[in-house]
Amino acid sequence: VTALSPTERLLRACRGEPVDRPPVWLMRQAGRYLPAYRRVREQVSFAELCRDVDRAVEVSLQPLDEVGSEAVILFSDIFTPVPGMGVDVDFRPGPVIAEPIRSAAQVERLRVPDPRESVPFVLEIVRALRGDLAAREIPLLGFAGAPFTLAAYLVEGAGSRSFSTWKRMLWREPALARDLLARLTDLTVGYLNAQIEAGAQAVQLFDTWAGMLAPAEYREWVLPTHREIAAKVDRAAAPLILYVNDGSHVLEEAVESGADVLSLDWRVDLAEAARRFGARVSLQGNLDPCALAAPPETIERLVRELAAAAAPARGHILNLGHGCLPDTPVEGVRAFTAAARALAGGAP
Ligand code: CP3
Repeated sequence: VTALSPTERLLRACRGEPVDRPPVWLMRQAGRYLPAYRRVREQVSFAELCRDVDRAVEVSLQPLDEVGSEAVILFSDIFTPVPGMGVDVDFRPGPVIAEPIRSAAQVERLRVPDPRESVPFVLEIVRALRGDLAAREIPLLGFAGAPFTLAAYLVEGAGSRSFSTWKRMLWREPALARDLLARLTDLTVGYLNAQIEAGAQAVQLFDTWAGMLAPAEYREWVLPTHREIAAKVDRAAAPLILYVNDGSHVLEEAVESGADVLSLDWRVDLAEAARRFGARVSLQGNLDPCALAAPPETIERLVRELAAAAAPARGHILNLGHGCLPDTPVEGVRAFTAAARALAGGAP
């Protein structure tokens, strides 16, 4: 395959078509580890930044020049569409819910808003980014939080080690949990399709906390939400990438979602996943973000090893196993994207 544009390379890898080399981007590639991001954040809060179209566009684009990423992900948060349901969310820095959702009355009050009305600024950011990126042939990704992860925060009220309030609801009040997940699934479908209509060329669903369930419970509570989203999102227009953190024990279930790409955390043996599932789904990942602290030569070797491990899969997107952390060295991220570009067959 001759040299492809970054957009063709990413979309072909998602769909399992031949590519010259794996595409590369990083989860949480715009964030506090970047000095340019911190300069913008000195002027506005994180919540303001997510609604400020010009600044959100600016920080979304920073990873292209600052660290050599080859895709842009909309700068926002998985909680951005949640206030439109009638729930107050604050960032300190993680999401904090003023009145955690615990009762049937609260769940019944949750609206599923039209994103054009509740988050017009998100769609403006997407349109502005796509306008900027089209000439450079850089792909634009949209994203949403998955219902299970959103519900975990909404019920718990904030991040937690065990999310036991939420997990207890699954056992004690299954009908209530199901109603909450159904509303969040509707929200997510509408939100992703609105981003696709506004110009997102691929979309990623982040299920950060779904891996806390045993396989049987994952099958009952998580898989149906993923399947419904995969069925209702316009995947002909934009392939769907599913990220399940800490999901080594539920890979078969994650593949059954019907997503085009499975994004793996670093606990998963990529070679084994490529052999077992690589004919059915493309893979994304999966370097431990902390490995970006290694010397550049080590990062280059790790990238070559990831690419070789994923070779049996129909497609592979180089990425981390979870997001960049605030203490991630910028040079490590640059070494990661440079190593991807240097892979055999690739343009320099
Ligand atoms: O990937 C990207 O570059 C796009 C932007 C993005 C952010 N959050 C920006 C952000 C994405 C895709 C997310 C997703 C997100 N947000 C998830 C799922 C993925 C994951 O990382 O597990 C979750 C669970 C959240 C909720 C959230 N938002 C937490 C727990 C935190 C605090 C922890 C942290 O990293 O600060 C946030 C805040 C947040 N979201 C920041 C950024 C850049 C930091 C805000 C700041 O202080 O500047």
